[in-house]
Amino acid sequence: MSTSKRNPAITISALALVVLSMASCGGDPNSPGVEYMPDMYRSPAVEAYVDYGQDPYHFSEELAQEQRNTQSAKLPPAGTIAFAAEAEKAQFNMPYPYKNTLEDYEAAGLNLKNPIAMTEATVEQGKVIYTKFCQHCHGEKGEGDGSVVNNGGYPQPPSYTAALKDLPEGKIFHSLTYGKNLAMGSHASQLNKEERWLVTRYVQYLQNGGKMTREVAAATTVAATTPAPAAN
Ligand code: HEC
Repeated sequence: MSTSKRNPAITISALALVVLSMASCGGDPNSPGVEYMPDMYRSPAVEAYVDYGQDPYHFSEELAQEQRNTQSAKLPPAGTIAFAAEAEKAQFNMPYPYKNTLEDYEAAGLNLKNPIAMTEATVEQGKVIYTKFCQHCHGEKGEGDGSVVNNGGYPQPPSYTAALKDLPEGKIFHSLTYGKNLAMGSHASQLNKEERWLVTRYVQYLQNGGKMTREVAAATTVAATTPAPAAN
């Protein structure tokens, strides 16, 4: 008797609640079920390298198509030079003025000067880079007897103390930037310009038989204080 008099609205709401609560428990144990306003749980934060075409908030197919494969981290506009917090490091962000040609290799050899002076500290920093990136081919003393050559049968690089003894610093830097022939790859993607100049210092140290040179030290102190465009 009392049931028939119950407000039908309450009955319907109660039923709806049961249906809803059942619908939220799907068969998939990993599914969070029905989410009420999902963006309250998951914020659509813009992240680098995310393919927004796969955004779970699928507003429209057209928008998804448009966004697909568009990386959120954009390339800087052409001609942009990165900001350097320390003024003396700004030169390392300037574009390299020489192209990957034989003429420019010669020009780099004549004009490019190492902007980093040869000091015990810079030789030590150069050595760290050399040990990690070069020694396995060029050998500890730069004699072309690294483990990759000895054990792997890789073509032997010329020795820094023989064939490459007088190779100028500009050519060392140029070859590090673009690579040399087929066997020496470009190191521009692994080492920034400052690191390439530091390791060039260490190659010069090895060219001199593992000793600091007074001439090199004196010459580079002059070069370092002259703001030459060649110092890029
Ligand atoms: C995979 C082995 C390998 C690695 C790694 C390597 N080199 Fe070389 N490098 C060579 C070979 C081989 C040559 C000789 C290339 C030629 O003249 O055909 C060479 C040549 C050079 C030359 C002479 C370039 C010229 O202009 O004649 C320099 C300088 C040099 N390497 C420095 C380095 C430095 C510094 C590193 C580390 C940052 C390095 N190399 C890493 C194999 C390597």
